[in-house]
Order: sequence, then C-alpha cells, then structure tokens
Amino acid sequence: MDPACKKLYNIEQVYDVQTVKSVKDYYGKVIKTNKDLKTGACCTEEPIPANIEAIIKDIHPKVLSRYYGCGSPFPPALEGKTVLDLGSGSGRDCFILSKLVGPNGKVIGVDMTDEQLEIANSYISYHTDRFGYDKPNVIFKKGYIEDLQSIGIEDESIDVVVSNGVLNLSTNKRNVYSEIFRVLKSGGELYFSDVFSGSRIPESLVKDPILYGECLSGALYIEDFRRLITSLGYPDYRTIINRKIDIKDSEIKQKIGIIDFYSITIRTFKVPLEDRSEDYGQVAVYKGNIEDKFVLDNHHVFKINDQVPICGNTSAMLQKTRYADYFDIIGESVHYGLFKSSG
Ligand SMILES: C[S@@+](CC[C@H](N)C(=O)[O-])C[C@H]1O[C@@H](n2cnc3c(N)ncnc32)[C@H](O)[C@@H]1O
Repeated sequence: MDPACKKLYNIEQVYDVQTVKSVKDYYGKVIKTNKDLKTGACCTEEPIPANIEAIIKDIHPKVLSRYYGCGSPFPPALEGKTVLDLGSGSGRDCFILSKLVGPNGKVIGVDMTDEQLEIANSYISYHTDRFGYDKPNVIFKKGYIEDLQSIGIEDESIDVVVSNGVLNLSTNKRNVYSEIFRVLKSGGELYFSDVFSGSRIPESLVKDPILYGECLSGALYIEDFRRLITSLGYPDYRTIINRKIDIKDSEIKQKIGIIDFYSITIRTFKVPLEDRSEDYGQVAVYKGNIEDKFVLDNHHVFKINDQVPICGNTSAMLQKTRYADYFDIIGESVHYGLFKSSG
C-alpha cells in the first residue's frame, strides 16, 4: 500500500498525541452524559436483545448515563469465559458481561480516560452484590487499546474480545487489530460494534475534534477494514447488524457532505480462514442449547435440527470455536469449487 494512502485510510496514522488528548478530553471533560452527544453515532438505536434488556435493569443509573456505545456486542455462550472489552468507558458493557460470564468467568475492561475509569471502578462492588457473587469478576485497567502488552494482557489469554463504539477513535487501528489477534486464544472470537464509513474520510475532517470525538471522522471505510484484517491473516468477517446512522445536527451534516456512516456489529474468529467461500460439500446442524435459533450473521440463521449447507469458512467458525459443542458438521471430503450460495 502506498504510504501516503495509509494515513488517509486512517489505518496506520502515526500515533497522534493531539488526537488522543482531544478524545480523552471529550469523554472525560466535555460530555458528562449521553444527553450531551451531538449525533446518533454513539447511541444504540437498534432493538436491544431481551436477555440484555433484563440485565440492564440491574446496572446502576450513573453507569448507564455515561453509556456511549453504538450496538449490542454480546455474543452467546459466554459462561465461564474470559472477555476483554476495549474502551470500556463507564463500564456498562463490562457489568452486563459480568452477568453473562457468571461467577467463574472474568471480564477485563480497558480504557485510557481517568474520569470514565473512576466511575467504572466505583460501581464494581455494587454490581458484584447485585449479581450475588462472592467476589468481583470484573477489573478495569488503565491503558491504550493499541498496546495491551504493557498492561499485562498476555498472548492467547482471552476467549472473546468485545468493543462498543471505540475502535474508530484509535489513531493506530493496525496496532489495535493486531493486538486483538495476539491476545485472543486460538478459536477465540472478536465481536464488536463500531462506526464505519461508506467512503474514505478526508484528512481535514479527521482533524475536526468534534467530528472525531463523536465517533465519525475516525471511522474506517468498511472496505479498508476488510483489507486491514485480511493483511493480518483474517480474511473473512461476518456482519450481524448494519444500520445507517441518521445525522440530524445540520452543522455536522454539512461538514460530512456525501459521506455515509454505519453502525455495524461484526464478528470474526482466530481460526484459519480462506479469502473466498469454498465449497467442501458441508452441512451444519444446530443442536440447540444456546438460543432458539443461532444467528451467525445477517444471512446465516440456524434453526434447531435444520440441515444448512455451509462454506469452508463458516464450517471453521462453527467447528474450531466454542460453538463446536452446539453443531454437528457433516461432510468435508471433497472440494467442489467456490461456494455457490451466500456464505
Ligand atoms: C464512545 S466511548 C464508548 C465507551 C463504552 N464502550 C460505552 O459503550 O459506553 C469511547 C471510549 O473509548 C475510550 N478510548 C478511546 N480511544 C481509546 C484508546 N486508544 N485506548 C483506550 N481507550 C480509548 C474513551 O476513553 C471512551 O471511554
């Protein structure tokens, strides 16, 4: 890739101290609650799953008032797992995950902003009591998501990485994604919600602190996201939800012009994947026990006992991960060429 483009693509932007400071100020000092946000980018506008709604009733209102996420990054089958939340903010998603992983699981939240961490830390014992646990299963670490090594997150130590409305704010997205794949165990899952753009964002908008702080102008063009994770060795990701963000503020609307923004919930896995969907004549049968139907992505919904033809990558996602216990995969002896239906 042409080095000049890397900066424009906002993937390997040099570590930009001024932008990091302005993001810290934005989330630490400028906005005090989600009512202060200027756009719908850092808001979850799609329906929240019923099991998550039920847990939210137990989350402290102060924590909820500083929730700035754009989706619901909560995959199933988390009990007993170790989950890492990148940019955990006031801790809303970590406390939800605390309930989902149960007393034998562990949740680690990472954030760089003192004011956000202060709130998150001060409500750990409240939620430990609320969920009836003997000891906390959540910790918050102060650090940068571009460098998880220096805060002691070991190689292959995490089952699931989640994040909600944060990765767009990073000034070095390549480091973030490469750290994610370093810390994930083999077979681990990255499941996150973030803001992406429908075209590349010009430098002049990237430099605008409000547009950047509001999770807009740091957003990756979705095709550059694909290129980035492909370059790291993970050439297939799946979209669960893709919602166009409706920008209502007229000044911001004028500045962004023709650029479209999307709140997208994505998953990928630390498993060997191919760059195209290949057909090995495989069929997946969902055995149940997670939910009534298992939604891998927006075109793979598995009903209990239905036989669904799948490509090699889908097979790896279901067979080489924690979802293996819930599926029977039949076939895999002959290669038939490219997978013909969606996959
Ligand atoms: C839009 S808020 C989302 C917070 C949280 N995920 C939520 O849903 O409420 C972005 C958060 O990411 C944190 N953040 C942004 N860039 C970061 C970085 N490079 N390293 C660590 N934290 C970062 C900010 O401090 C802020 O708390």
